[in-house]
Amino acid sequence: MATIRLPGLIDAHVHLREPGYTHKEDIHSGTCAALAGGVTTVLDMPNTEPPTSTPRRLREKVDLARAKSVCDVGLFVGATVADLDAYLPAATRACGLKIYVNETFGSLRIEELGLLHRLFRTWAARAMELDGWRPAASPATSLGPIAVHAEDLMVPVCLSLSQLYNVPLHIVHVSRRSEIELIRAAKGRGLAVTCEATPHHLFLSEEAYKGGGNRFDMRPKLAAPDDVAALWENLDVIDIFATDHAPHTLSEKGMAEEPAASSEQATMPGVPGVETMLPLLLTAVDAGRLELDDLLLRCVENPRRIYALPKQPQTWIEVDVDAVHTLSDEMTRARCGWTPFAGAQVKGRLEKVVLRGETVFDGEQVLAAPGSGRVLFQDGVQ
Ligand code: NCD
Ligand code: ZN
Repeated sequence: MATIRLPGLIDAHVHLREPGYTHKEDIHSGTCAALAGGVTTVLDMPNTEPPTSTPRRLREKVDLARAKSVCDVGLFVGATVADLDAYLPAATRACGLKIYVNETFGSLRIEELGLLHRLFRTWAARAMELDGWRPAASPATSLGPIAVHAEDLMVPVCLSLSQLYNVPLHIVHVSRRSEIELIRAAKGRGLAVTCEATPHHLFLSEEAYKGGGNRFDMRPKLAAPDDVAALWENLDVIDIFATDHAPHTLSEKGMAEEPAASSEQATMPGVPGVETMLPLLLTAVDAGRLELDDLLLRCVENPRRIYALPKQPQTWIEVDVDAVHTLSDEMTRARCGWTPFAGAQVKGRLEKVVLRGETVFDGEQVLAAPGSGRVLFQDGVQ
């Protein structure tokens, strides 16, 4: 047995589902799952109900997180067609602006060029007010990046808006060869773009969906084996590994035994993941597909830099890197109670998580009290 100590991980893309969908997850259950995955900071997405698209809703979410979280939480604001610029007064209290340019779960969607144009222009103008002029491609402003769910042709649209307005762009869950190769070219030209990939797009392909059905349905959909290969070939272009932890119940996915769902029924895209990223990546390290430093760069250093997250003093995780175990639905602490990686044999077991000097997870139990996590970017706000 070899136990190593690593920094607490940052998962820059999770859906804690509160308010509105607490039958899937809430801030307490989702942050407990994070600790059990070695994650001590999560960035929460705005597609809750109601969405985090106004200063009041952000404040309400901050209050909920202050009462319930067991790890540190940063919150995104999101643009909706109805509240287009309403988030703006709260922009500095969020880790960034999330724009859903393509179809997915929830009501947030901006797919019209004129509206996208306006959002990039407005964000750039606010950044200029706060920070003054910045050279092109300089990272994090006081506002953080615009993070986009942009697939396929929407990738060049967002790249071009980012370049026109000199706004740092972060492209979430990249899944296809065409997208990662375009991002490589854009980086080569000095554009201020970063991107992330999820464990499910790195370790699963459309074959899993063909064999296993809606358990493996998410946006972007699982891609062809050649797309998966492209992510690995272009690992140097991927700045962040983040899970897109997107819990739905098995019955919402039409996968529960009772009641049986009809095959035509539309089901909810998204899979949980915050608990399984660390063992999956450590297994890739063990197999020689990754270096441990590649993991730490993408799960700690880069997300911290891209979103200007504070350091967590006296914070670390302890992992037995030799322990082999099998991931299962039963092990999961996420409220939805399942994982798309059930049955996968992994190497590396989390034994302990220490946050600011306190043991918050002992390998079995979450020991932290609700509300012991911090909500980021709220300095001076009561
Ligand atoms: C996410 C969700 O369920 O909130 N679903 C998904 O398939 N990834 C939304 C998203 O990130 O697109
Ligand atoms: Zn997501």
